Amino acid sequence: MAKVKVRYVCQECGHESLKWMGKCPSCDRWNTFVEETRHVSTGTSERSHVSISTLKPVPVTEVEFLSDERFLTNIGEFDRVLGGGVVPGSLILLGGDPGIGKSTILLQAAYEICKSYGPVLYISGEESIKQVRLRADRLKSLSEDLFVVTETNIDAIVELIEEMSPRMAVIDSIQTTFSADLPSAPGSVGQIRECAAKLLDVAKRKGICIFLVGHVTKTGSIAGPRVLEHMVDTVLYFEGERHHSYRIIRAVKNRFGSTNEIGLFEMEGTGLRPVDNASEIFLAERSSGVPGSVVVASLEGTRPLLVEVQALVGKTAFGGTPRRMATGVDYNRTSIVLAVLEKRVGLNIQNQDVYLNAVGGVKLDEPAVDLGIAVAIASSFTDKPIDPGSVVIGEVGLSGEIRSVTHLERRIREAAKLGFTKFIVPRNNMKKFHYDDGIRGLKIQGVESVAIALKIMLSAS
Ligand SMILES: Nc1ncnc2c1ncn2[C@@H]1O[C@H](COP(=O)(O)OP(=O)(O)O)[C@@H](O)[C@H]1O
Ligand SMILES: [Mg+2]
Repeated sequence: MAKVKVRYVCQECGHESLKWMGKCPSCDRWNTFVEETRHVSTGTSERSHVSISTLKPVPVTEVEFLSDERFLTNIGEFDRVLGGGVVPGSLILLGGDPGIGKSTILLQAAYEICKSYGPVLYISGEESIKQVRLRADRLKSLSEDLFVVTETNIDAIVELIEEMSPRMAVIDSIQTTFSADLPSAPGSVGQIRECAAKLLDVAKRKGICIFLVGHVTKTGSIAGPRVLEHMVDTVLYFEGERHHSYRIIRAVKNRFGSTNEIGLFEMEGTGLRPVDNASEIFLAERSSGVPGSVVVASLEGTRPLLVEVQALVGKTAFGGTPRRMATGVDYNRTSIVLAVLEKRVGLNIQNQDVYLNAVGGVKLDEPAVDLGIAVAIASSFTDKPIDPGSVVIGEVGLSGEIRSVTHLERRIREAAKLGFTKFIVPRNNMKKFHYDDGIRGLKIQGVESVAIALKIMLSAS
């Protein structure tokens, strides 16, 4: 006998409740609860049928393991974020704003996989197969082993995947799929969870790698985010400014590799092109000799990235509240740096508007860029330009001290490759610093406080 159970589910975070609520107690959003009904079998539940005798723990040493086989997409930057290629049997979620290039990169990857390893199934719920064909034409990704189909019913999709047993399948997008067992609309948390669970099952059972495309909601997370992020093996986010051609794919979760890795791409007519000389691009349009411009060396995963940070400081209009704006750098860290500049360095900026920008549409959220932010603000405030051949690295503490950063050597090496010769770094890092051939000839100065760093940087120019 099946009983109908009514639940209210928050569409933002997946929180469930027996009664409707205006505000979700879990994520504090308003008006996110939607009624969902589910058929539940009554009496003996399925679980109680599992007899204990069928559960048999085995010594971990005797567990059959999959060899560390990975499919390479031959798109260097994409393989890098995936942790060195696609693991068969994994479920990967790729999230991002509409139009950012999710379908593009997956079609390109699908083509490369089917060329080297065998058939790939591309299931489109949003576009007709003609549209997919058009895109494949444009991306030069036509192959007889790349199969396309439009379908949104999850049971049909799963059946198709099982029958075809492709090397890889792409579901574009998970929000369009639905299960006929649930009365709620496609795209609701209940549907997404149900569909993803079915895909997870078929991926693991058949050892097929499945990519899910996920749309991002207005608040910036994948719809039904928590629910999906827990289920899948890997979560990738596609980032980038709509007005820049650069796109970044970031791994937020990865069961088969390091997170923090990023892949850099440039959107072109023929698709997404991997960018490997990232820093050069971010520094390409730098105007040297302008006050407020500083180059920082941030580490994104294992890759050092040199980025120009710009600050513009100007007096607030009479009687107004000072404005503080930060794009590409963390707002909270910026506030701390501003407080330190005021209190510990004595910079009189409480009545100044401060605008900060990390050039190129990147997002820097690493503490090691703190000192760069401080120097950029001070440089703009005092109207003194910074030596364009210098790089500033360091985390700023609340008492104005400079704290050490990770992988200093790697950052310096990358900067040296690009022709930077002067470095302001945390003094504590210098203790365990090894000079060798790649680094000799550079002027590396260890500093212990923001005040000292500013003195060196602002007097040198
Ligand atoms: N004919 C074209 N020439 C160049 N770029 C194009 C063309 N058509 C689409 N694009 C680019 O591809 C992007 C759409 O990518 P798409 O993979 O469909 O995004 P998503 O699947 O994330 O919604 C557009 O924003 C545009 O930049
Ligand atoms: Mg798309």
